[in-house]
Amino acid sequence: MTLPLLEDLPDPSGKKVLLRADFNVPITDGRIDDDLRITAAMPTIEWLQEKGASVTACSHLGRPKGKPDEKYSMDPVRERLSRLAPGVELMENLRFDPGEEANDPAFVDKLVDGFDLYVNDAFGASHRAHASVVGPPARLPSAAGRLLAKEVEVINGLLHRPMHPFVAILGGSKVSSKMGVIEALIDKVDHMAIGGAMCFTFMLAQGYSVGDSMVEPDWVDRCKGFLEGPSKDKFLIPKDVVAMGPDEEVQVFSGDIPDGWKGLDIGPATTLAFIAPLEHAGTILWNGPMGMFEDPRFQEGTVDVAEAVADSHGFTVVGGGDSAAAVAKFGLDLRIDHVSTGGGASLELLEKGDLPGLAALREASNAK
Ligand code: 3PG
Repeated sequence: MTLPLLEDLPDPSGKKVLLRADFNVPITDGRIDDDLRITAAMPTIEWLQEKGASVTACSHLGRPKGKPDEKYSMDPVRERLSRLAPGVELMENLRFDPGEEANDPAFVDKLVDGFDLYVNDAFGASHRAHASVVGPPARLPSAAGRLLAKEVEVINGLLHRPMHPFVAILGGSKVSSKMGVIEALIDKVDHMAIGGAMCFTFMLAQGYSVGDSMVEPDWVDRCKGFLEGPSKDKFLIPKDVVAMGPDEEVQVFSGDIPDGWKGLDIGPATTLAFIAPLEHAGTILWNGPMGMFEDPRFQEGTVDVAEAVADSHGFTVVGGGDSAAAVAKFGLDLRIDHVSTGGGASLELLEKGDLPGLAALREASNAK
């Protein structure tokens, strides 16, 4: 069964539509830092409004633990939404009710009460089997919104019909959270570059000392398995790193990192090695920063990789979360073909090829 799209809904004219969006945006002191997740829902909202539907949106924000918490109020989002899409109502944070995360049927009943149709455009939350994601499709005619459909199409394209050479660049802090993606992609890619703090577990597996860098010792054997396995030649592991030592001294080390020093960015030789295959790549997937880019002393690897991805003539996809924040920070987001709005969701879709929210929509009464 395929995902029901907006066009598969019964005529929305005069109907009340419940729209599940992922408006879980970064907010500092009541101000939204990045509204990509709100603007990304506009094509769906505009389509519904043009068809004469009245739209009520709902979303979670942060992790308020099942009870109201002023800190996670939807007010800043409501204010932004009212300017971008006048006439759209927004419910209070879904996670103020414990029924949301527990997928409580009574909470689903409450949510859908008074609505005629349901649209899920919350790609970033579709890996959560929560009430607002998996409940409504069993109760109302339902569809994937434009954003959700686009995200799924892009990731399915990476998994099933990438243009070669296909280069994956993975970074971020925890190798444990990327193992599933490495496994799912290693047979499909031509090169897999490993940066970010997760590279130190790989370097340990290669036999290097990594000083005080972050490692996950339980994962060294798995990394070793990859580095000695049939796809070993696809891996690009850092040859040099930028590290911080005693008295915040910063230095580049090739190979071993001495005790007392902590690796915080890839080094210049590694950056060149990572960038080289990007020039002729047909497809690039980048997920996770190369270092602690929030600190200008350790941003160079991430900036250089981001620029090389932006310069590429291939099809470029940047995973959500920190790498999306990095391309936005460096003003490169408009030069990337697809910047995902999902962090955990894009990783899980790459890894498993499906998400609970997608499965629920495929089982909706109006799905074909
Ligand atoms: C995200 O930010 O990745 C999504 O909004 C999901 O949030 P969660 O990890 O709190 O479920």
